[in-house]
Amino acid sequence: TWTPGNIIEDQVAAIRSVVGDKQVICGLSGGVDSAVAAALVHKAVGDQLTCIFVDHGLLRAGEAEQVEKDYVAATGIRLKVVDASEQFLGHLAGVTDPEQKRKIIGREFIRTFEQAARELDAERHIEFLVQGTLYPDVVESGGGTGTANIKSHHNVGGLPDDLQFALIEPLRTLFKDEVRALGSALGLPEEMVQRHPFPGPGLAIRIIGAVDRERLDILRAADLIAREELAASGLDREVWQFPVVLLADVRSVGVQGDGRTYGHPVVLRPVSSEDAMTADWSRLPYDLIAKISNRITNEVREINRVVLDVTSKPPGTIEWE
Ligand code: XMP
Repeated sequence: TWTPGNIIEDQVAAIRSVVGDKQVICGLSGGVDSAVAAALVHKAVGDQLTCIFVDHGLLRAGEAEQVEKDYVAATGIRLKVVDASEQFLGHLAGVTDPEQKRKIIGREFIRTFEQAARELDAERHIEFLVQGTLYPDVVESGGGTGTANIKSHHNVGGLPDDLQFALIEPLRTLFKDEVRALGSALGLPEEMVQRHPFPGPGLAIRIIGAVDRERLDILRAADLIAREELAASGLDREVWQFPVVLLADVRSVGVQGDGRTYGHPVVLRPVSSEDAMTADWSRLPYDLIAKISNRITNEVREINRVVLDVTSKPPGTIEWE
């Protein structure tokens, strides 16, 4: 019978026999899949694993800290952090086209990961690379907007010749809910295990317009409020994803405090879905929407309007870019 305990036992034995006494690396993204895959491998081979976390500066509030502090505390994994936010934001400066943003982030991600892997390889010869590929990724690969395709920039299969590692994919036969169960059984932080899907390019594709630090901070503040209130309402599991989108080039007139303002709108985009291929807007209670709206306009000075996206997918995609 399927229990997290059985899977962990089987995988640990399998990983041990494949890896032997060789060295392994794994890239962490902040997401569930890589976190669970790495934790499994760590359970199997301990300190032969080193994780790399490229902080591109486009994560939500608290997420980098979750990886660097909570995850490391929970697992004892050796982590190499690369703070690359300066570099990513530099290359993204002035870029508004969504695909261009993705291209830049993908390119810089691979470049940065490669560099970090090269340094580690020089230190301790690396033979294996862990990837958090899930069963649906395996099945869908190659197809349209399927995950494997969309996540191409996270695929380090394109590493140069002198950095060819054998792949370890301990989650290849598993579905998302099974991976979450494994993560909990492995003692990973619950916020990480239950995290909604989040795009690799992060907040860069939730700022409509050019990306800069100030805009990222505004969006982070609004996004954190939406996440806090959703969690407090107990409806977290009803929602597949809850993007908050900053319309950074749009301004509208408002009245806040004792003056007229000319601020930005944010869009709330809570959706329900099975697999992200199709989706519907979540019918969240109006009181919850109202609470989020009030808090955002009260606490985030630059935002004076909150709107709700009531478009299904299709025709609208989940993200705005
Ligand atoms: P859309 O917006 O196409 O999104 O309905 C479908 C799912 O894919 C995620 N998404 C991405 N994930 N890199 C990613 O890793 C991307 O460039 C990207 N674009 C969209 C989105 O969050 C949703 O889960």
